[in-house]
Formats: sequence, structure tokens, C-alpha cells
Amino acid sequence: MNTMEINKIVAGVICAVLLVVVVGKIGNALVHPDELEAPVYPFSEDVLAGANAPAAAPAAPAGPEPILAMLASADLGQGEKVFKKCASCHEAEKGGPNKTGPNLYGVVGAAFGHVGDFSYSDGIANHGGTWGFEELNEFLYKPRDYIDGTKMSFGGLKKASDRAAVIAWLNSKSDNPLALPDPAAVEAANAAEEAVDGAADAVEEAVAQ
Ligand code: HEC
Repeated sequence: MNTMEINKIVAGVICAVLLVVVVGKIGNALVHPDELEAPVYPFSEDVLAGANAPAAAPAAPAGPEPILAMLASADLGQGEKVFKKCASCHEAEKGGPNKTGPNLYGVVGAAFGHVGDFSYSDGIANHGGTWGFEELNEFLYKPRDYIDGTKMSFGGLKKASDRAAVIAWLNSKSDNPLALPDPAAVEAANAAEEAVDGAADAVEEAVAQ
């Protein structure tokens, strides 16, 4: 290969580079790409991210696990043990005194603020209604969430089996214990509720289409 040929090759490469640059400039001059201020499809990035993300785990149900179906088989001995956590503030024997908290004999099924000579918070005093199993389940799960401004400074019982046991035991501390719900009936009621929810969702979907 002589110098002449090398020069031609170098010149060719330079021309090619120049051509690319010039064509690029001309292209830009002819076509003005208008940048969009906002994406036309506003969710595109989220959607793309979402499309590849694993399906979100179903949200944990808010609030305490239900205990109705556990009451009938709850262990009263266990309930008495759990009550040790309450005993610094509560007595549960008939005719027993109020302590920091009111006497709890007969509280299950009784009105909120069931003791006459105890000075309740407004949250309890003005609540209205009665302490059924479900109300007690909510209250004992997290007292401060259930009753605004409650005087009961107790963090709560996080274990459903503890709540079921102590509620069943408290129910036995009464002149008129409530009948414990039949677990089969509770399950049937839950299944019926789910079926109704499912049907409502189906109707909603059908209407939306
Ligand atoms: C640190 C003291 C304390 C502890 C521990 C405590 N309580 Fe209480 N409890 C109270 C006070 C004070 C009240 C009154 C609350 C109010 O007026 O807001 C109360 C109210 C209640 C009520 C409502 C009574 C009514 O007449 O309406 C129930 C039911 C109850 N407590 C159950 C329990 C149980 C069950 C436990 C144990 C798992 C427990 N408490 C632990 C202080 C306590």
C-alpha cells in the first residue's frame, strides 16, 4: 500500500465523519422535536414499574383478628392467667372494690361504664351501647385506639388467643354470662358475609363495564 492510498483512506474516513455531522445538523435544523412538558400518558413510568413488580401481598386486615369463633373453646385457666396483666388495676370478684380501673365483675354484656361509682373518661362515659365480645376484642387489642382519651393505660393484648381467653374468663365472672357463640355458626356467618361481598364486587364490576 503506498502513501497515496493511505491518504485516500484517511480522506475517506474524514469525509464520512463530516458527512455524519453535517447530516445530523441538517436533520436537527429541519425537524424540531418539541419536548413534551409532561408525559402524554401520565402513569407510564408507574405502570411500567408496576407491570414488572411482584403482585402486592394482600393488605393485612386492619385491627384485631376476630375471636368469636375462638371463644367456645377458649381455656378459662389461661384466661385467669392473662388476667394477671389486668389485676394491678382491676378486681373481677363480685362486690370487689374499684382500683385504678373499675371492678370488672359482670362487665361482659353490660353497658360501657358499667360501674356506678367509678369516674370514667368521657370516651367511655359517653360511648353508649354494651360491651359485647367484639367490642371487648377491639378495646383489649389497643385500648387507646378504640376509646379516644381512655384512662386505661394499657398497651393491649396482641395475641388473639389471649384476648379470647381473658374475655371468656371475664364472661364467667358474671351473674348472667352471655352464651358463647357457636364456632360453626360464626363460620357460616363469615362465609355468608364473604359471599355477599363477592356478589357486591361482581355487580360493581358488571356496572363499571
Ligand atoms: C394500668 C391500669 C389498667 C390495666 C393494666 C388494665 N386496665 Fe382496664 N381499665 C383501667 C381504667 C383506668 C379503666 C377506665 C377507663 C376509662 O374510663 O377510660 C379501665 C376500663 C376497662 C374496661 C371498661 C369497663 C367499663 O365499666 O366500661 C374493661 C372491660 C377493662 N378495663 C378491661 C381490662 C382488661 C381485661 C385488662 C387486662 C387485659 C385491663 N383492663 C388492664 C385501667 C387498667
